[in-house]
Amino acid sequence: MRRYRAWVVMACAAAALAQSPRSVWDGTFTADQAKRGESVSQKECVNCHGAALSGGEEAPSLEGAAFLSNWNGLTVGDLFDRIRKSMPQDDPTRLSRQQGADVLAYILSLNRFPTGKTELSAQSEVLKQIKIEPAKQAAR
Ligand code: HEC
Repeated sequence: MRRYRAWVVMACAAAALAQSPRSVWDGTFTADQAKRGESVSQKECVNCHGAALSGGEEAPSLEGAAFLSNWNGLTVGDLFDRIRKSMPQDDPTRLSRQQGADVLAYILSLNRFPTGKTELSAQSEVLKQIKIEPAKQAAR
């Protein structure tokens, strides 16, 4: 009986963890990763999206309110897939998954989301569990 109760408690804790909603406010990338992403961006993105990705002649800004409102309620995984399938626009096959994740970390840092202790994964399924919320929600 005791044993069974302990098992139930553990199973519930695991379920709660698996379902705990995460957002870009939860420290989803590291500062080092964002730095690596900045070098990828210098080579692959700024020529169209402008210095610091704040917008070029044809390509939109990847930071700020307008950009975030396009992605509000979607996930980091959706943004990752969008980049992987269509960017850099002249050759979307050029970036590795890791470079894609790094550049994504850089974009999150430009949008002033906080850094954390673990890097962003390069797996879209994992990234699909992180919501993009432009404004910080009240403490849950
Ligand atoms: C050859 C020019 C070019 C390059 C290089 C390029 N982009 Fe783009 N990008 C565009 C254009 C033009 C658009 C707008 C049209 C569209 O949505 O496809 C765009 C749109 C985007 C969007 C959607 C913006 C939104 O508000 O939803 C993202 C995200 C993006 N680019 C990321 C990147 C990243 C990351 C890189 C570097 C790895 C990159 N782009 C390199 C031209 C480029």
